[in-house]
Amino acid sequence: MHLTDPHLFADPNGDLRGTVTAESLQSVLDHYNAADWRAHRVLVTGDLIQDDSEAAYSRFRDLLLPLKLRIHCVPGNHDVRDLMKPVCFRPPFSYCAWEEIGDWLLVGVDSCVSGQAGGEVSNEELERLSDVIVNSAARHVMVFLHHPPIPMGSRWLDTVGMSNGDEVLERLRTLNRVRALAFGHVHQAYDDMYEDIRILATPSTCRQFKPGSDEFAVDDKPPAYRRIELKPDGQVNTELVWVDA
Ligand SMILES: [Fe+2]
Repeated sequence: MHLTDPHLFADPNGDLRGTVTAESLQSVLDHYNAADWRAHRVLVTGDLIQDDSEAAYSRFRDLLLPLKLRIHCVPGNHDVRDLMKPVCFRPPFSYCAWEEIGDWLLVGVDSCVSGQAGGEVSNEELERLSDVIVNSAARHVMVFLHHPPIPMGSRWLDTVGMSNGDEVLERLRTLNRVRALAFGHVHQAYDDMYEDIRILATPSTCRQFKPGSDEFAVDDKPPAYRRIELKPDGQVNTELVWVDA
C-alpha cells in the first residue's frame, strides 16, 4: 500500500487548506481496513508532517501502528529529518531502508535538499541506491522516494521537482532490474512508463493539487491511496483508490 503526504500537525484538528489532515489520513486507513485485500507492506513517501513538530510525528506513529505492518518511510521537503528519524528508525517503521521480499527488492531513497522545496538525489545517495541494487540477488526492484523524477506538466510544480531526475532515471534504467518507481510530493495521480520502468505517483491522504495548472491550485479530489501488486515475474499491477468522505 502506498500512502503519501499526510502533512500531519501536533494539533489533532490542524488543517491544510480546509482539510483536517489527521482525519483524512484516518479515513484512508478506515477505507483500507474495510477493503477486501491485505497489504504486506506500507510505503510512505514523505511530507509526514506539516508543522515541524515532534508531536506530529508521534501522531503519525500512533495512526499507523494499528495496521500492524512494516512501514517503509522516506522524507519529503516538509519533513524534519532530526525529528523523523527517532520515529522511523524504530520498528515497524524504517527510514530510507531496503528490504528483499521474494523476487523483489524495495529501496527507499532520500531526495530532499535541506531548506528547499525541490529535490535532488545526491551523488552519495545515488551510489548507495546502485550498491543496494547491485548487491541484491532480487530479480526485480521497486524504488520509492518523495520527489518526481519526471516533469508533471504543471508549471509551478515543475519548479519544485527533482533537479537531476533525468540522471536518476538513466541510472535506474542501466541497472536493468528496476520495474517500478513510486513518489509523492505532487498531490495528484500519475501512472506512465519510462522505458521499462513503471512510474507511479499517488495523491495525498489530504488535499490534492490541480493537474496541469500553471499556478498553484488545489483540486477538489478526495484523499487517496494506492494498491500496488508486485508479481513474481516482475509485472506491476496497481489500483488507485479515492476515498470519498
Ligand atoms: Fe506534500
